[in-house]
Amino acid sequence: MLNTYSYQTALAASEVVHWRIEDIIGGEKRLDFTKPFMPESLARVEELSFLDRDEKRILNQIRGNAYLCIFGLVEEFILPFVLDQTRPQLNGDDYRVRALLQFAGEEAKHIQLFKRFRQEFEESFGTHCPVIGPPEAIAKAILAHDPLGVAITTLHIEWMVQRHYVDSIKDDQQLDAQFKSLLKHHWIEEVQHAKLDTLMVESLAVGRDEAARMKGVDEYLEIGGFLDAGLKQQVEFDLGSFERATGRELNEAEEEEFRRKQLQANRWTYLGTGMTHEKVLETLEWLIPAARQKVESISAAFV
Ligand SMILES: [Fe+2]
Ligand SMILES: [Fe+2]
Repeated sequence: MLNTYSYQTALAASEVVHWRIEDIIGGEKRLDFTKPFMPESLARVEELSFLDRDEKRILNQIRGNAYLCIFGLVEEFILPFVLDQTRPQLNGDDYRVRALLQFAGEEAKHIQLFKRFRQEFEESFGTHCPVIGPPEAIAKAILAHDPLGVAITTLHIEWMVQRHYVDSIKDDQQLDAQFKSLLKHHWIEEVQHAKLDTLMVESLAVGRDEAARMKGVDEYLEIGGFLDAGLKQQVEFDLGSFERATGRELNEAEEEEFRRKQLQANRWTYLGTGMTHEKVLETLEWLIPAARQKVESISAAFV
């Protein structure tokens, strides 16, 4: 045990911050396409000096749409995983059962919320923006791994959400208010998930020797490699979406720079911000100190 988290306090906190989809989207609450959706530290569109202001904003919005889709994707594996962790112990700690079911319910709600935003994006943006998937195939590939590896991946994702919001979104006044509201409401429920994931990793580690713990960490890194391949594909999709949306055809050198810088931006967004998160590293170190060292030796490629 490396923390003071408990199922009971996570459940109580989640009951206080609970919100409904109807409170966030619909009616007057619409996306404003004259504004950026993503913070620059994640979008990294300013680095592409051959783009003008409007083109940068459009690429930023394409990245925002992909963010919705990629979160939709990862939450589709988190939902069944949390249910799988809950069912075998339904007769155990009542707070554990309720906290995990609440967690699963919130992820189902988030998946639906991301879909609603995507739908509005598709209707208003004017250009279809493809994304990696389908979600079921990605979920199946991830869930085929060691449950400890899946739990560490989930932990990475939940702390990553904390970091995106607190470090880059909260104080950014340039962002579209509606998109920012989505990110804020998502973040506020993910705070509890990150703590529950930590407890899940701890319970999955019980009874494992060092080699078995390291196997879980290696499978987490394998899942990271799988997601990284998906991000490469996503950059190609984003490049195509950008050219269709703006009507601008980039020359070879510009395309090369787009691919290189946007791949790194995606790697930082979805991999680096989790792999270098102190809370993720603390849990890895608690599992086995060599795990922290291993992840730290790799993470420089994703910043
Ligand atoms: Fe979520
Ligand atoms: Fe979550």
